[in-house]
Amino acid sequence: MEQTRALAGPELTPRTAVVWTVLRAELDRHGGRPLTVLDIGGGTGGFAVPLAAAGHRVTVVDASPDALAALTRRAAEAAVGDRIRAVQGDGDALAGLVEPGSVDLVLCHAVLEVVDDPATVLAAIATALRPGAAASVLVAGRAAAVLTRAMNGHLSAAASLAAAPEGSTGARDTLRRRYDADTAATLLTAAGLTVEEIHGVRVLADLVPAVVADGDPGALLELELALASRIPYRDLAAQLHLFARRPA
Ligand SMILES: C[S@@+](CC[C@H](N)C(=O)[O-])C[C@H]1O[C@@H](n2cnc3c(N)ncnc32)[C@H](O)[C@@H]1O
Repeated sequence: MEQTRALAGPELTPRTAVVWTVLRAELDRHGGRPLTVLDIGGGTGGFAVPLAAAGHRVTVVDASPDALAALTRRAAEAAVGDRIRAVQGDGDALAGLVEPGSVDLVLCHAVLEVVDDPATVLAAIATALRPGAAASVLVAGRAAAVLTRAMNGHLSAAASLAAAPEGSTGARDTLRRRYDADTAATLLTAAGLTVEEIHGVRVLADLVPAVVADGDPGALLELELALASRIPYRDLAAQLHLFARRPA
């Protein structure tokens, strides 16, 4: 039987370690079987390429032709072009792009903040997953964005963001929405997914001075991992990672 290789590469940074730790556990659960992975808004392949290098087949659906061109170059450089399919498409219209019940693992990282309708994307994710398969969803955290604005002296922007129902300050905001752990979990649950784990990503990485982060990255990484699932630290992270499963 075809077997995968261990995930390799430089991906374990304070900004990504928590997500990779959760994903590794899911890959291990499949005992080395090559998985069918769908990465929605996968961009230039920061997750897709290491997963393909480990032997998994990854389809990246992204709206940006430039991102997909960079992904294709990166995949070729890593000699995994045959295991990555780059599809230009809209996460809001996923239903027509992926066969229902065909995917072992969906990644949807830093995308729900920008699409037209997150509920539609999540419904399509739930449809694409095989029964019992998992979704890794990473969203921007609202609390961190409020604190960052306040710490930078933008008190009225912090107040607007804290009060805005969607967690966005409007047309000039780079994101259309941000989440708290509860609001994100509610959205996934409404799509029929069972949320198994919630972690904070970048609890400290954006807060510590660069000289500290660069001076002792190992200590920062360890601290990120230690705080990721502990409340209140988790809920103050720049991003929230939800790991959910379609019921078997
Ligand atoms: C912030 S990047 C995240 C990239 C990658 N998932 C990561 O975590 O590094 C957001 C990505 O979503 C893509 N994107 C934005 N709107 C989209 C949509 N409606 N459908 C599919 N992809 C979209 C962008 O082109 C971009 O590559």
